[in-house]
Amino acid sequence: MHIETDIVHGGQHPDKWTGALSPPIYQTSTFVFRDADHGARLFKGEEKGHIYTRISNPTIELLASKIALLEAGEAGLVFASGLAAIFNVVIAVVRSGENIVSDDTIYGGTYTLFKNILPRLGIEVIFVDVSNPGKVQSALNDRTRLLFIETPANPTLKIIDIGACAEQAQKKGIPLCVDNTFATPYLQRPIDLGAEIIVHSATKYFGGHGDIIGGVAVGREEFIHAMWKGAKDVGASISPFNAWLILRGLKTLAVRMERHCATAQKIAEFLEKHDKVETVYYPGLKSHPGHEIARRQMRGFGGMIGFDVKGGKETGKTLMNSVGLCTLAVSLGDVDTLIEHPGSMTHSGYTDQELLDSGIKPGFVRLSVGLEHVDDLIDDLKQALGKI
Ligand SMILES: Cc1ncc(COP(=O)(O)O)c(C=O)c1O
Repeated sequence: MHIETDIVHGGQHPDKWTGALSPPIYQTSTFVFRDADHGARLFKGEEKGHIYTRISNPTIELLASKIALLEAGEAGLVFASGLAAIFNVVIAVVRSGENIVSDDTIYGGTYTLFKNILPRLGIEVIFVDVSNPGKVQSALNDRTRLLFIETPANPTLKIIDIGACAEQAQKKGIPLCVDNTFATPYLQRPIDLGAEIIVHSATKYFGGHGDIIGGVAVGREEFIHAMWKGAKDVGASISPFNAWLILRGLKTLAVRMERHCATAQKIAEFLEKHDKVETVYYPGLKSHPGHEIARRQMRGFGGMIGFDVKGGKETGKTLMNSVGLCTLAVSLGDVDTLIEHPGSMTHSGYTDQELLDSGIKPGFVRLSVGLEHVDDLIDDLKQALGKI
């Protein structure tokens, strides 16, 4: 089936008890055992069944299997947030005394987790520019257990060649983990290009409506099972209702992504011509250094744009304080267009020098293009840029 069809139907069947087309929300913390021996068998793993929602739940499992199908992975596991998914992947793969090689441009929360939390567990994170194969080669060592990237990366829209990266990881015998939040499997399927583990903030395009927090990891069956064994004791499970909202949001993923891409392309072209804008970072622009790689590995360029406003941080602030239709808020992938300043908001865990090293200039503004009419968005940006 085409991915558009899988997005609507994949993994879903009418409810076997009632015929309900929309899947039931199993909003329960616990599940009743037939008798004491049944409970004991479930705990021992001798019989399949649900025990307690932190351990498993049918609504959450439906979402996990649907996203695994969309990502072309064998299995998936859903978490309370994207960061919970990333943390659980890391602790499933890496032990104290070992390390991760990560791209230096990643979501600020992931960066803080890697820089501040993991070292407390004895896990070192080596940050390099992964788009430079030579730098990756020299960073990988005998204690490296994971190569981690985002592409397109948050917030600079840096593009990394997934196939080339996967090859380097395979040579080293370690998995490549791709945070596919910005692209979604509708635009890019890293497993088809050699990646082994995929993570998502489901809060973003999967949910799509800005009303939930959730995360997902996808990979080989054996790996996901091993990760589940640890994750159930870490306790970062999503609520069944939030899982259901993601299932509901997912149904329109294909049409939403088409519109996000089309509108973002037009806005990026408008910004590129504007005299108050210094640089526009959008992989759909020919001027973007990753344009050719993005064309090869993505079917569309996504709904995220970065741009440097001439004059730096103060003029960036004027712009953000002057928009009317665009909303000044973090998060992304919503139906509403959101604008923010990564340097002081989502990426404030980076030092000033680290921001510059990752290509995030003081006046860098991030735009998550929503589903409003493109002309209204351009008019809003035009009037706000006019205030500078
Ligand atoms: C690329 C990316 N990965 C992971 C996360 C973390 O996801 P969550 O906020 O759902 O924990 C975010 C959040 O913005 C993100 O942008």
